[in-house]
Amino acid sequence: MTDTTIEARDLAEAALAGLTAQPKGLSPKWFYDAHGSDLFERITQLPEYYPARTERAILETRLDEIAAEVPDGAVLVELGSGASVKTRLLLDGLPQLAGYVPIDISEAFLLQTASRLRADYPDLAITPVVADFMAPITLPDFGGRPVVGFFPGSTLGNLDRRGAMELLARLRAWPDHAALILGLDLVKPVEVLEAAYDDAQGVTAAFNLNLLTRLNREAGADFDLSAFRHKAVWNDEAQRVEMHLESLRAQRVRIAGETINFTAGETIHTENSHKFSPETLSMMAARAGWGIAGILTDPDELFAVAMLK
Ligand code: TRP
Repeated sequence: MTDTTIEARDLAEAALAGLTAQPKGLSPKWFYDAHGSDLFERITQLPEYYPARTERAILETRLDEIAAEVPDGAVLVELGSGASVKTRLLLDGLPQLAGYVPIDISEAFLLQTASRLRADYPDLAITPVVADFMAPITLPDFGGRPVVGFFPGSTLGNLDRRGAMELLARLRAWPDHAALILGLDLVKPVEVLEAAYDDAQGVTAAFNLNLLTRLNREAGADFDLSAFRHKAVWNDEAQRVEMHLESLRAQRVRIAGETINFTAGETIHTENSHKFSPETLSMMAARAGWGIAGILTDPDELFAVAMLK
């Protein structure tokens, strides 16, 4: 276990920095408090949110091709493991695994998940690491076992291009790295993309707005939640869906003793979800020093699981 638990002070500091910047923005890592992590699990079950079920179907149906890249005695290291729901497909289907290292920023969620997994997989060494995978992570010592990275959910797409390149290069530099199983969402018609990030039941809106609830509770803020709305828009030039919280009127918000002004219609940019083509994916992998063992897609080419080696 590392001791990189996030302090309320970091949250208040990050929030002040992000909300006094122009344009206003907050890091998506703050979404994942206990309630946010629960809401995110609900997002993955929404009818509009095709990425989760599509990725799951690829992992299920192409397990042989994935297994071919996973050496005997390997340790699976997952970045941003959440509830480790789809990981179970790999833990069930890859008997050659000796260990599993879930890495997540939400400590309570991570430890709860780890104890469930230990009960279900008694033969697997399970070593959770509480960390922000955006920062360089020191992995536990696996005694030279081959390390297979697992980075599903198109989370790489939540970074900007430079951050994505840096992370791919950092994973490539892990000692004993053998392969990387990388899930990425593909470019597709804008209606499908925007619906996936603005569902009819309003779960994604609740997830986005929960950031303000968290700031009220943990960073001494006084956001009026009824004065902000969730907004999801496709930015064609940047090839990404952007998530914002839009101020519905001119207003002042107090946070950690400071006052932040909002004009009507001004937004807090909370998340980007970049979409990929097989060509961009291949180019980025090559530039980070990875070879491509295969790019596995579903029949409709909605989503890709890239096997890098
Ligand atoms: N990696 C997920 C994605 O980009 C994260 C995500 C899904 C998300 N829905 C969201 C992030 C809504 C913020 C808001 O698809």
